[in-house]
Amino acid sequence: MRIYLIGFMGSGKSHWGKLWAGTHEIPFYDLDRLIEEAENMSVEDIFENKGEEYFRAKETIALHSTIAYPKGIIACGGGTACFHNNIQWMNEHGLTVYLSAHPQYLLDNIMGEKDRRPLLKKINPAELLFFIQQKLSERQPFYQQAKLTLHADALTPSSLEYLLQNNEGA
Ligand code: S3P
Repeated sequence: MRIYLIGFMGSGKSHWGKLWAGTHEIPFYDLDRLIEEAENMSVEDIFENKGEEYFRAKETIALHSTIAYPKGIIACGGGTACFHNNIQWMNEHGLTVYLSAHPQYLLDNIMGEKDRRPLLKKINPAELLFFIQQKLSERQPFYQQAKLTLHADALTPSSLEYLLQNNEGA
């Protein structure tokens, strides 16, 4: 099974994806890393030098390249589900799982590494919660098309087991 983890920045896609993949001995892929490898450039530099539109095009190409992995957990970027019909594509090619979280939870996770994320870099810390609320409500209609939703603050190392047991054949 190919599992796509989607959700806002700071929802724990990479953290939980890596952990679940490790305990289940399934390969783990991070879409941002696949883009960086293909472009030989960091996500930050791609945004800076080539712009978001270019990044989104490369993101979709990297997403489509995951068709080569019949089994694995793929942590997407926060925006992956929201561009170029990617959510439909993921629904057709795997099991989509949305890690949903409240803005304050996301803020707490994002705060320390804000400068590493191109979309947040220029946002004043005092306005960050407002920015998250706005962006999240804009993106929610895409995230909510995921086949399954897990609440980020209730995740445990065995959440995936539960998910797989209850979605055999997905
Ligand atoms: C983005 C989220 C990032 C990365 C890029 C854009 C977004 O991934 O893909 O900076 O649009 O929300 P993470 O969610 O892993 O931070």
